[in-house]
Amino acid sequence: MTAVNSALPDGAAKLPRHLAVIMDGNGRWAQARGQMRLKGHQAGAQAVRTVIKAALMRGIPILTLYAFSSENWKRPAAEVNGLMTLLARALKEHAAELHQHQVKIRIVGDVSALSTPLQRTIARVEELTSQNHGMTLNIAINYGARPEITAALRKLIQQVQDGRLDLSALSEADISAALYVPQDVDLLIRTGGEFRLSNFLLWQCAYAEIYVSRVLWPDFDEIELDKALHFFAGRERRFGMTSAQLAQAASGAVDLTQP
Ligand code: FPP
Repeated sequence: MTAVNSALPDGAAKLPRHLAVIMDGNGRWAQARGQMRLKGHQAGAQAVRTVIKAALMRGIPILTLYAFSSENWKRPAAEVNGLMTLLARALKEHAAELHQHQVKIRIVGDVSALSTPLQRTIARVEELTSQNHGMTLNIAINYGARPEITAALRKLIQQVQDGRLDLSALSEADISAALYVPQDVDLLIRTGGEFRLSNFLLWQCAYAEIYVSRVLWPDFDEIELDKALHFFAGRERRFGMTSAQLAQAASGAVDLTQP
C-alpha cells in the first residue's frame, strides 16, 4: 500500500486535502438482511478498512470518520456496548498496519467519558503513531461539534483570563486551533442518503463541498469513493468570490489576498 496519486480516476487530480465522512446506514443495511443492527456495524467496520486504504492509496492527507456521536449514547445499551467493543477491536487490530504506513491516528471527541480500557487503547495507539508524517486519520468518538466548540471556547476564555490571549486579537485561526479538529474540511461525504450534518464538524465545514451518497455505509467502497472524488474535482470552489475573480486569481492578474 503506497501513498500515490496515480490510482486516481481520470479528472480527479484535484484531491480534497481533508475528507470527512458521516458513515450512515449500518442499521438499515442489517435490517434489510433481517440481521441485528450490530451486524451492520460489523460490516461497516470492513468498509472503514476499505476506505482508509483507498484514501491512503490516493494520497488524501487528512481523513476524518464519524464513528460515534455524543448523541449515540441514547441508543440501546447493547448497541452502544457492541459499537465500543468494535471500536476497541478495530484500533487494536489495525494500529500496527496503519503505523507501518506512516498514518497518524487521532481520536477526536471527549474521550474522558469512554471506558478506562478503551481510553488506554486510544492513548497507546495515539502515542505509537504520533510521530508519523503520512495521512492523518481522525476517528471521531463521543464527538459532537457543539460540545467541541463549547470546549474550545472554555479553553480560549481561560487563556484570556490568564492574560495569555488578548481578546481584541482573537482570530478565526485561534478558534480553529482550539478545536479537536483544527483543519477545514474540503469534502464531506454522507452515506445513507440523508441530507443532514448531524452535529459533525460544523465550524470546519464552513466551505466544504457536500456529497450525499444513497449507498449504505457497509456497501461504500473504492468505486463509490471515486465517484465522490470526481464530484469534488468538478466543483468550482469560490469561497465567496465570483467565477471571474477566481479565473483572474488563477492567472495571477489580481491578488485576492488583499482587501
Ligand atoms: C450510523 O449508522 C453509523 C454509526 C452510528 C456507527 C459507525 C460505526 C462504524 C462504521 C463501525 C466501526 C468504526 C470504526 C472506526 C472501526 P446507523 O446505525 O445510524 O444506520 P441507520 O441510519 O441505517 O440506522
